[in-house]
Amino acid sequence: MAKVSSSYFCQSCGYQSAKWLGKCPSCSSWSTFVEEIVQKENAASKKGEWRASSSTKISAKPRPISEINPLNEQRLITPDQELNRVLGGGIVAGSLILIGGEPGIGKSTLLLQIALQLASYKVLYISGEESDQQIKMRAERLKVDGKRLLEEFSEENPQKTGCYVLTETSTQNIFKQIEIFQPDILVVDSIQTMQSSFIESGAGSISQVRECTSEFMKFAKESGTPVFLVGHITKDGTIAGPKVLEHIVDTVLQFEGDRHLVYRILRATKNRFGSTSELGIYEMLGDGLREVSNPSEILLTQRDEAISGIAIGATLEGNRPLLIEIQSLVSLTSYGNPQRSATGYDKQRMNMLLAVLEKRGGYKLGTQDVFLNITGGLKIEDPAIDLAVCVSVISSYEDIVVSNSKAFCAEVGLGGELRAVNKTENRISEAEKLGFKEIYISKYALKSVNIQNFNIKIKAFAKLDEVFLELFV
Ligand code: TYD
Ligand code: MG
Repeated sequence: MAKVSSSYFCQSCGYQSAKWLGKCPSCSSWSTFVEEIVQKENAASKKGEWRASSSTKISAKPRPISEINPLNEQRLITPDQELNRVLGGGIVAGSLILIGGEPGIGKSTLLLQIALQLASYKVLYISGEESDQQIKMRAERLKVDGKRLLEEFSEENPQKTGCYVLTETSTQNIFKQIEIFQPDILVVDSIQTMQSSFIESGAGSISQVRECTSEFMKFAKESGTPVFLVGHITKDGTIAGPKVLEHIVDTVLQFEGDRHLVYRILRATKNRFGSTSELGIYEMLGDGLREVSNPSEILLTQRDEAISGIAIGATLEGNRPLLIEIQSLVSLTSYGNPQRSATGYDKQRMNMLLAVLEKRGGYKLGTQDVFLNITGGLKIEDPAIDLAVCVSVISSYEDIVVSNSKAFCAEVGLGGELRAVNKTENRISEAEKLGFKEIYISKYALKSVNIQNFNIKIKAFAKLDEVFLELFV
């Protein structure tokens, strides 16, 4: 008799159970269990197999760690500097990279653009979502200078390199094509549309997504080919078919941003080959994504007239200093409880700073509505912008303008003291580069800063009141 085994999976976290459960013991969500057929008969031995034929399988042997050559990590440097930075210095050979993001954010656009830019490599773009014609239309729109590269390369390797498109969803068929085509880089758009014939359940289900991902993982590791997977994101912001995927892959990149704004941010949330604090910024234009190599310029609003409630903070994203504009609006509460709202900043932290201002500075903010906004759609967690937040709130409260040639960089403690932050020198030099005249830092940061190196005027203070005395009195 045919043996078919099935299991119940939580569609929200991937928890597996032999019987149906009302509440998931792992993520506590209700009614998320769905029965999925895990194995077809006779498929057990082939599960996880990426090749169409299993005869050529390479089997790995244990090796002493001292004999493993550390130089094996080869990186492919793409023409896209932002992507290189986020990946920790280029694409590592044989790595499996998952790119998550909401629908319509630009994942397909980003990967197609990179595929076209890498015209001196054989890139296979597998699409389970769009037809060849749709991809072609998008490629026409992108106007990437890929042809030039192709001509340069064609002398050695005629007509071989460039971007190839395959519209297919069956992983077995895909691997058959891959064995013939031998791509240098593989792009799979998207993992939720892929289907392995070893698993019965439909495309996009947990077991299917997990199986397809591990097949691509095996392929990437055995062939040394980097593989990009596109993953959709569910409403609550996790990659659908979810945590299970994040364990398998080497790198998880998130492509985020407000669909109504032009800026998009690429950040690594997991990276086996680099730091997760790096950030890539793009601008979505009519003809594709443009790299934004100097983000401070776009984050600082160009303005002619001086407005109160604005202060510039010097923050760091990864190793990259950014100067960002913080805007506040403080106005008398006319009805009920005062409103507090923060966009791009932690509301708890804002409330804490407001309490410090009230207690240590004597400002009556308890009767005021406070709205705080970080421009450019960024979310900042760096405490180094505390001082800029405080200055912007009081600037609005007092209705006194803070000159836009001043930048601020210090953490504020509960006693109203200014605390030193890491890499102060990097922040100062970025402010200097952007033409700021003065930067306010903590007195305690001075020992790590060589003032002689800078032309910008560095003002160091120990307490918040001293800064306010200078700015608002
Ligand atoms: P897309 O890459 O299809 O998103 P995803 O794969 O993440 O679902 O994003 C398409 C969006 O980007 C769509 O709303 C149109 C816009 N777009 C541009 O603004 N400029 C362009 O050059 C392209 C190709 C798309
Ligand atoms: Mg897409």
